[in-house]
Amino acid sequence: MGEINKNVDALVDEWQFSRNARELQSSIIREILKDSSKPGVINFGGGLPAPELFPVEKIRKACLDVMDKHAVSALQYGLTTGVKELRELIASRMRKQGVEVTTECIQITGGAQQGLDIVGRAFLESDSVVLTETPTYLGALQAFSFYRPKFVSVETDNDGIIPDDVEEKMKKYKPRFIYVVANFQNPTGRCISNKRREALVEIARKYRCPIIDDNPYGELRFSGQHLTPLKAIGPDIVIELGTFSKIISPGLRIGWICSQPSVQTIIERMKQACDLHSNSFTQYVIYEFAAAGHLDPHIETVRKAYSERRDFMVGMMKKHFPKGTTWTEPEGGLFLWVKVAGNLSTSAMLKDAIAAGIAYVPGKFFYSEKADDTTMRLNFCNATNANIEEGIKRLAKVIASAK
Ligand SMILES: Cc1ncc(COP(=O)(O)O)c(C=O)c1O
Repeated sequence: MGEINKNVDALVDEWQFSRNARELQSSIIREILKDSSKPGVINFGGGLPAPELFPVEKIRKACLDVMDKHAVSALQYGLTTGVKELRELIASRMRKQGVEVTTECIQITGGAQQGLDIVGRAFLESDSVVLTETPTYLGALQAFSFYRPKFVSVETDNDGIIPDDVEEKMKKYKPRFIYVVANFQNPTGRCISNKRREALVEIARKYRCPIIDDNPYGELRFSGQHLTPLKAIGPDIVIELGTFSKIISPGLRIGWICSQPSVQTIIERMKQACDLHSNSFTQYVIYEFAAAGHLDPHIETVRKAYSERRDFMVGMMKKHFPKGTTWTEPEGGLFLWVKVAGNLSTSAMLKDAIAAGIAYVPGKFFYSEKADDTTMRLNFCNATNANIEEGIKRLAKVIASAK
C-alpha cells in the first residue's frame, strides 16, 4: 500500500488532477477495515450488517423471477427516477409509517450514500454552510466535502439535537440545510425525541431551511417507543433519504430520496447527471423480493437478532469495562457509542487495540468541528456472541492499560 501511495503522490505531481482528487482523503473506516482484516482481529469497526442473515435463497428466487417477468426492462436503460413498481412500493411503505407521499416523491438512488451526494450537488457550493449534529455520520461529511461547504456543528444530548442551538446557528449562518440522522444515529445510536423533532421542524420552517433526514436505521427499532418520522411532521421542509442496505443487503446498492414533487424535479436532474439511473436489475430484485411477501418477515428476523446482540454486548461491557467508561444503549440500529474515562485518546489507543486483536472506529472522525477523542463507535451486529465476549474482554484490557 505504501508503494501505491508513493506512486499516487508522484502522479498527482505530474498530472493535473482536480483539487478534490488531490485533497480529499480516503475513508478512515476503510483504512481501519484494512488493518482489522488481519487474521485474529475482531472487528467492531465497520458498518457492516450481519452477513449470515442475508436472505440468500429468497434473493436467488427473486433474481429468477426478474428474468421471468421483467427481463427486457431489467436489462434496458430505464427512467432516471427509477423502476415504477419499486417507487410505488417505497411510497406505500412510507405511507404506512405516517408519511403522506406519492410515487412522484420517490427518486431511486445508488444507496443512501448517493442520496447524500445528490443532495450536495443540489444545494452546495464553495463556502455554503451545512449544520450537522455533534457527532455526525462520517460518510456524509465526506460526500458533502466534495462541494467544499463549511460545516457548523450543533450541540446534542441524549434526546438528539438541541433546538435552541439550531435556532442560534440558523440565524447566524443561514445554512443551505441541516443534516440529521434522526433514528439510531450513526455513530451514537441515539434518536431525536418527538418533542425535539417538532421543534426542529418549526425552526426549519421559520428560517426556510430544509432538513435532510438520513434514515437507514428507522425500521430497525427493537425496543422503546415508536417515534414520528421527521418527514411526517414536516412534509414541506424535510427531505428523507432511505436505503435497503441495512434491511436487506448493502451490496444491492439501492436507496431512495423522498422529497416533495417540485424538489424532486431538481433531484432528478442531479441524478441524471450522475449515472442516468440506478441499476434496474437490482431494483426489480428488491421489488420481487418484497412482492413475494419476504421483506417484513426479514426485517423482523434482523431486528430480533440485532436486539439479542445489543443486549449481549451491553451485558459484556457492564461486566468487563473499567470503571468510568460510559456508553449509549440504543433501541435500534447497528451502533453504540463509548466514552472512556479521563483524557484517554481512543485514536492513540487504536494501534494497541489492533495489536491486541480488536478494532473499533475512534470517535474523533465523526466530528465536523471540535472532536472528542475519548469516544469510539462499536458495531454490535456484526459479530457472534463468542466474538462479542472475547472482543469486549480485549477492549476492556486495552482501555484499562492505556495511559
Ligand atoms: C447514516 C448513514 N447514511 C448513509 C449510509 C450509506 O448507506 P448506503 O449503503 O445505503 O449507501 C450509511 C451506512 O452506513 C449510514 O450509516
